Amino acid sequence: MSGVSIQRVRKRYGDTEVIPELSVDIHEGEFLVFVGPSGCGKSTLLRMVAGLEGFEAGDIHIGGVRVNTMHPSERDIAMVFQDYALYPHMTVRQNMGFGLRMRGTPADEIAKRIQDAAEILQIAHLLERRPRALSGGQRQRVAMGRAIVRKPQVFLFDEPLSNLDAKLRVDMRSEIKALHQRLRTTSIYVTHDQVEAMTMADRIVVMNKGRIEQVGTPLALYHQPATAFVAGFLGSPPMNMLEATCNQGVLQLPEGQALAGTAQGSGPCMLGVRPEALRLHQALATEGLPGEIQLVEPLGAETLLSVRVAGRRWMARVPGETEWRPGQSCRVSWPADQQHLFDATTGVRWS
Ligand SMILES: Nc1ncnc2c1ncn2[C@@H]1O[C@H](COP(=O)(O)OP(=O)(O)OP(=O)(O)O)[C@@H](O)[C@H]1O
Ligand SMILES: [Mg+2]
Repeated sequence: MSGVSIQRVRKRYGDTEVIPELSVDIHEGEFLVFVGPSGCGKSTLLRMVAGLEGFEAGDIHIGGVRVNTMHPSERDIAMVFQDYALYPHMTVRQNMGFGLRMRGTPADEIAKRIQDAAEILQIAHLLERRPRALSGGQRQRVAMGRAIVRKPQVFLFDEPLSNLDAKLRVDMRSEIKALHQRLRTTSIYVTHDQVEAMTMADRIVVMNKGRIEQVGTPLALYHQPATAFVAGFLGSPPMNMLEATCNQGVLQLPEGQALAGTAQGSGPCMLGVRPEALRLHQALATEGLPGEIQLVEPLGAETLLSVRVAGRRWMARVPGETEWRPGQSCRVSWPADQQHLFDATTGVRWS
């Protein structure tokens, strides 16, 4: 049993409450991603699990054992940092074996584990080099290797890909995911990159200002965001939003248009529609809201259109080949079941 349980933890730095109170369970074998904007407390939380940071209240259990006061080295976790934290004066082999040597693991066992990990990560030919003679991607692999050889109960990752260029980041993302499918080690991964979160996670925890906004599978969060924050955070381009007021099933929009029969609830709200849910019609069509095409951005397989709708700039995702041109008038609609409504004050989803 190697799950991690975080229960009612609180953390403050001086007068600043960084984590007011937070609870979440990470299941055994799961790849759980914490995602949220810069400064929302992701690293702080991870460091609390690792034992690098204390906390005021609450409990953390790893594999059923309460670790609140346990030293990091006793927690049976391995952490991969953003800057890799490799020892510059040691070879790759020495870097990978260091933690095991400190624990008194027999030399032949260390050698075997290093060889196994190096083969998995395809760095066997680099074992005698020092970190400065490695590329960013290779250093990243060594940092992963150092975590793997420990065979810990839990891997902790803090933005391990953020120092890599865009292409390498995508490659390493797939590799870490493949590695998890092979090893099935419980993993907690922290990032502010929503694409990393969506593509890698079994479940995502969206954090905002030290609190959990929502926990769920990537697609559950994408299709049923519990709050306007989650709706806006996951997805690129982000969900289109518009202030509205709902009155007996009629949505009143800022420029006076009304959409009948599509809404439950009453009062001020935020209307949200994903770019791929938007339907564009000719200007003379009778359905939908009037709009004007402002930008056409072909990406190959798809094209992004910026459309001015009710005084806002909305994005539509359409097939790569499109007839739409800037300056054209159009009308936009969307299927009623792909419309999201959030309370204007609290941001909480209406049913
Ligand atoms: N040692 C510290 N002393 C005081 N405040 C701190 C300390 N470490 C972090 N903070 C503050 O706590 C908050 C959370 O920081 P944290 O590093 O956990 O954010 P994060 O979500 O990891 O952000 P990022 O995505 O930028 O890495 C921030 O407001 C930060 O300034
Ligand atoms: Mg951080």
